[in-house]
Amino acid sequence: MTGSIEQRGARMAQTWLKIAVLYLLIGVIFGIVMAGNHQFQYAPVHAHINLLGWASMGLAGVIYWLFPRAGGHWLGLAHFWLHNIGLPIAMVSLFLMLGGNPAMERLVALGSLAIVAGVVLFAVNVFVNVKTA
Ligand code: HEM
Ligand code: HEM
Repeated sequence: MTGSIEQRGARMAQTWLKIAVLYLLIGVIFGIVMAGNHQFQYAPVHAHINLLGWASMGLAGVIYWLFPRAGGHWLGLAHFWLHNIGLPIAMVSLFLMLGGNPAMERLVALGSLAIVAGVVLFAVNVFVNVKTA
C-alpha cells in the first residue's frame, strides 16, 4: 500500500465500515429468517454476526477514521486480518455446530481465538496511538 500511515489508516477505516454494514445486512436478514422459521437455536450466531460484525467492526472503523494513525499502524492491520479471518470461520462453524455438528466446536474455538487475539492488538493500538496529533 502507498501513502502515509494516516492515509492508509483512513482507507482502512472505510474498509472496516463497509464490511461492518455487510455484516449488519447479513445479521438482520439472518434474524428475520430465523424468526420466521422459529429456529431460535441459532440466536447466538445472529447475535454475534450483529455484535462482532456490525457493532464491533463499525466502532473500530469509526475509531480508526478518527485516529488514522492507529488504523494504518501494523497493529491496526493485524487487528483487521485477525478479526476478518476469525469472524467468518467462527460464525459459519458455530452455525454448523448449532445445526447438530459438534465436531465444529474446534473451528469455533479457533475463529474465536483469532478474534480475541485481534482485540488484544486493538486494545494495545488504542492505548498507544489514540491521541491528538
Ligand atoms: C430486523 C432485524 C432483526 C431481527 C428480525 C432480529 C431477530 C431476533 C430474534 C428472533 C432473536 C431471538 C430471540 C429469542 O431467542 O428469544 C434475536 C436475538 C438477538 N438479537 Fe436480533 N434481530 C434483529 C436485529 C438485531 C441487531 C441489529 C442486533 C445487534 C446490533 C441484534 C442483536 C440480538 C441479540 C444480542 C440477540 C440475543 C438476545 C438474547 O439471547 O437474549 N439483533 N434477534
Ligand atoms: C470472540 C469473541 C466472543 C466470544 C467467544 C463470545 C462467546 C459467547 C458465548 C459462548 C455466549 C453464550 C451463548 C449461549 O448462551 O448459547 C455469548 C453470549 C453473548 N455474547 Fe458473546 N462472545 C464474544 C464477543 C461478544 C461481543 C463483542 C459482544 C457484544 C458487543 C457479545 C455479546 C453477547 C451477548 C449479548 C450474548 C447473549 C446473547 C446470546 O445468548 O446469544 N459477545 N457470547
